[in-house]
Amino acid sequence: MRSMFSHPAVLFLWIQSSSGWMHPKCQIYDSSEDLEHIPTWICSHIPHHAERYTAACQDVTAIEEDLLGLPPNINTLCIYMTHGENRSMSLGFFSRFQDLEYLYIDGCFTQILPTANSHLPNLQHMYLGKWEMDSDCCDCHIGPHTFRDLVKLSHLTLWSYRLPAMSPDVFHGIPLLQSLIIREPCLEDLSEIACRIMNIKSLVRLYVDAANIRSLNISNCSVLNTNESMTPVFINLASVALSFDEITHIDEGSLAWLQNLTRLTGDFSQKVLLDLPLSGIKQIQVLSCYGINVIDIESICNVVFLLSIKKLFVNNANTSSLSMSSIELCTGLEYMYLSVPLSFHPTTHLDWHFISSLKNLNQLNIVGLEDNRLDICSFQKQPITWLTNLTFGLKNQMLFAKEFICLVKLQYLDIKHNLISNIEDFAFLGLTNLESLDITSNKITQINANTFYGLHSLTWLDLRNNPLIHNIEAMSFAHLMSLRQVFLGQVHNPLTEPVINLNLTLIFGGILSQLTRLYISSAMRPMQLTIGSNITSKQNLSLQLKGQTVSFQDCDRPFFQSVTHLHADAEEFLCGSEFMGKYFTSVETFDYRSKLSAKRVDLTSINQLIHLRKLTLRQVDLLIQRSADIIFHNLTKLEVLELDNCRIYSLEGSLTKDLKSLKRVYLHIENIYNVFYSFTEPLSSLKLLTFDNLQMFCSCDNAWLITWAKGCRQVEVIMLGSYSKTGMYALEDLICLSDNGIDTPYFVRYTEANCTTEVGFVLFVATGLGVLFFMLVVLVHNLAGPYLLPLYHITLGWLLEAMRSNTRGRYHYDAFVSYSGKDERWVEEELLPNLEQRGPPFLRLCLHSRDFQLGKDIVENITDSLYRSRHTLCLVSRHYLHSNWCSLEMKLATYRLQLEQRDILLLVFLEKIPPRRLSAHHRLARLLKTRTYLDWPQDPHQHQAFWDRLWAKLKPPTEHEIRG
Ligand SMILES: *[C@@H]1O[C@H](CO)[C@@H](O)[C@H](O)[C@H]1NC(C)=O
Ligand SMILES: *[C@@H]1O[C@H](CO)[C@@H](O)[C@H](O)[C@H]1NC(C)=O
Ligand SMILES: *[C@@H]1O[C@H](CO)[C@@H](O)[C@H](O)[C@H]1NC(C)=O
Ligand SMILES: *[C@@H]1O[C@H](CO)[C@@H](O)[C@H](O)[C@H]1NC(C)=O
Repeated sequence: MRSMFSHPAVLFLWIQSSSGWMHPKCQIYDSSEDLEHIPTWICSHIPHHAERYTAACQDVTAIEEDLLGLPPNINTLCIYMTHGENRSMSLGFFSRFQDLEYLYIDGCFTQILPTANSHLPNLQHMYLGKWEMDSDCCDCHIGPHTFRDLVKLSHLTLWSYRLPAMSPDVFHGIPLLQSLIIREPCLEDLSEIACRIMNIKSLVRLYVDAANIRSLNISNCSVLNTNESMTPVFINLASVALSFDEITHIDEGSLAWLQNLTRLTGDFSQKVLLDLPLSGIKQIQVLSCYGINVIDIESICNVVFLLSIKKLFVNNANTSSLSMSSIELCTGLEYMYLSVPLSFHPTTHLDWHFISSLKNLNQLNIVGLEDNRLDICSFQKQPITWLTNLTFGLKNQMLFAKEFICLVKLQYLDIKHNLISNIEDFAFLGLTNLESLDITSNKITQINANTFYGLHSLTWLDLRNNPLIHNIEAMSFAHLMSLRQVFLGQVHNPLTEPVINLNLTLIFGGILSQLTRLYISSAMRPMQLTIGSNITSKQNLSLQLKGQTVSFQDCDRPFFQSVTHLHADAEEFLCGSEFMGKYFTSVETFDYRSKLSAKRVDLTSINQLIHLRKLTLRQVDLLIQRSADIIFHNLTKLEVLELDNCRIYSLEGSLTKDLKSLKRVYLHIENIYNVFYSFTEPLSSLKLLTFDNLQMFCSCDNAWLITWAKGCRQVEVIMLGSYSKTGMYALEDLICLSDNGIDTPYFVRYTEANCTTEVGFVLFVATGLGVLFFMLVVLVHNLAGPYLLPLYHITLGWLLEAMRSNTRGRYHYDAFVSYSGKDERWVEEELLPNLEQRGPPFLRLCLHSRDFQLGKDIVENITDSLYRSRHTLCLVSRHYLHSNWCSLEMKLATYRLQLEQRDILLLVFLEKIPPRRLSAHHRLARLLKTRTYLDWPQDPHQHQAFWDRLWAKLKPPTEHEIRG
């Protein structure tokens, strides 16, 4: 069962959320239009609404510690615990998130404690599950009324949590619980569930999937026993689905507490199945029987009749017992799926008369038939007017003429994945209402002019994966007046023909103009297509072509102008010896897959496709393109660019100069390359940049990427990769290839160690210019000596004036104080009196109230305040390190530090912090190496000296200092 759901496996790795949050274990997403592109396993089943914040936390070992620092107003919280968790969890912890609506926890606890006196006023959905494969149930004690304070909880899911470990009234008192899903509860008796939910009057939907229950017994909880009339306890229960494995026994009356079932799934023997109507169930909408027990049709139909079943799935039906009389009681069925057991092969012969008894059946699905003739219609006296959908899994190799002629109302016929090799002419005659015909994955070799004769209403025809080795006869599709979507493949043609030639006008005639979708594949053989007329498509055609090579004979036909979506999968895609792309002048999406080893064809003409909105190149070698840098020019409407398994020399601005509409870029480049800053410069609309398996050279040209990815607020940068050991692919894990071609250092460390020399280079240049200037001055002095001194004074005065306005005017504050709210007392009692009241000059400090709402404005506000302050003073404490605000402020401050190259940042340690703790905060640890910092002395006698030093550092420079 679990395999149906993707395990939250580790593929993804590192995200810089657009709001700029950093948290060691959690990523925070605010919803934006690109949210769909975040890896789906993160809270994948939880809807993302507009204006919602989602936090996804991984590798959590202790919730209360690891989730510290999350902003209080998140709406969705997903927690993936690492295994080995062995502690209790208190719901009270989550009450700090007053807006929380969805809580998803994948992990196991020894117990779950109620919220105590706090509330989770908005929590609606809660999921508690244990994903690990091959592990036992989670033995988690949950006491009575644990969820009582979850006043809005409407959906609760428990997966692999042992129900018997929970109190009998675990679900009591949840006022609004509507949907309860219990999967793998590790119990053998359904009454364990029944007794726990008896009092939940609000319950609307119940789903139970319990493989260990073998026997359905009378529930023995006291609630039921006192309820002698067995009337349903639930008022609102509208949907109940039960799923079991093998059921060996059903007690009389055991399911009386449920009455109506939406769906029942299980492995029942025939005898047990016949006991089902005695269980107290009145009605089942969908019954699904699977397992190895072969069941007679007559027995099943008895149950179908007694329980008013509408949909029936039987995996091992004894189809030889199918007959008009045996199936009579099944007449209420609307849907029937029968699978013929393997043991019946190869001689099953079906008596198709049975269809006339099932006058309510509109969908029939039979698989595993071995008949060599489908005798559906030969015995029918009347047309079958009730069947609309028919699916067959057959072993026959031939479809005979008029085989389906009685199915006058049939709309969907699905005979895919069979062994049909031959379709007689007029095989589908009479199917005048048929809209969709799926014959994919058969062995059909030939299509004739009359193969599809009579299918007037057909709009969809799928012939993919058939070895069409004979020429498709002329006009084979021309009479299918309603046809819109057609799929042909693989067109093989006799191997004696070196190239497959198809003339589309010859095959399709006039209907070519009304197709909306055309797919033709010659698999691995070369294919040459001819349009053959000046026909134009009236539709926005989507054209998909696949072959070893695909070429066209008449490239300037107007037909190509109606193609808006083009998909070409061919080493070469040609018109003569030219690239064919340019003839599709209206194309909006173009997906081209070549081969890295393909011969060089000049792709420059892609830059003529000015209507392109999405361009995908796969396995295209841009290294061998003579003018690779102009291929993407002129594409001003392009919104999505994907280079998948391509090669390219480097990414730079000359490629992207016209791509002003580009929103999303996906890059999976095969070779090692450089990414220059200029690449992103023209991309003013860029929202999402994804690097898949990024391989860069160790070069300072690429160093910008690190600060840019971390700091750029409007572009989300995603790194995908499979080579990371931990699965966590942070920017810090990015490796690069050094010049010797062997070493692969971590890129971040490489740039830290090497790329600061860039600054040295700047200084060198500056000094050089200074010397040059000096020489110039000497020269000028010699020439214009007498005038020089007055000029000097005027300039100096002007400069001083400018600098004065700079130091006094630009800064509103002398210091922006970044601190944790927990240290507020110290700020108020110590910092303010000692700094603001000491002077002159009196210092002006900017303190940040912590009560604001999360949002971009605030980040702007902080930035603003920061830049209006001459210094930034960080008060470092344990609380400070835990606070997200503080790390954000420190981040902003360090950016400014890098930008201004001035001594603006001051660190004050309010308490001793062990180096081990500091090392987790890379930014801070790095700063400590380069910055001066002050320790708040424990000894009160030293406080005065501390304030003197701090004041001296923060006070505005005097004019004397400026001049000096
Ligand atoms: C969990 O804790 C209990 C008692 O505190 C101990 O017996 C058990 O071995 C622990 N289990 C794990 C997986 O650490
Ligand atoms: C069960 O279904 C029948 C028929 O649809 C309906 O009359 C009856 O009220 C339902 N009972 C419950 C308890 O929902
Ligand atoms: C028949 O099959 C089609 C295609 O699978 C589906 O869309 C349609 O809903 C089905 N018809 C009925 C009556 O279920
Ligand atoms: C920043 O927030 C303060 C209150 O904290 C407010 O007074 C001020 O106007 C805000 N500034 C900006 C630029 O939003």
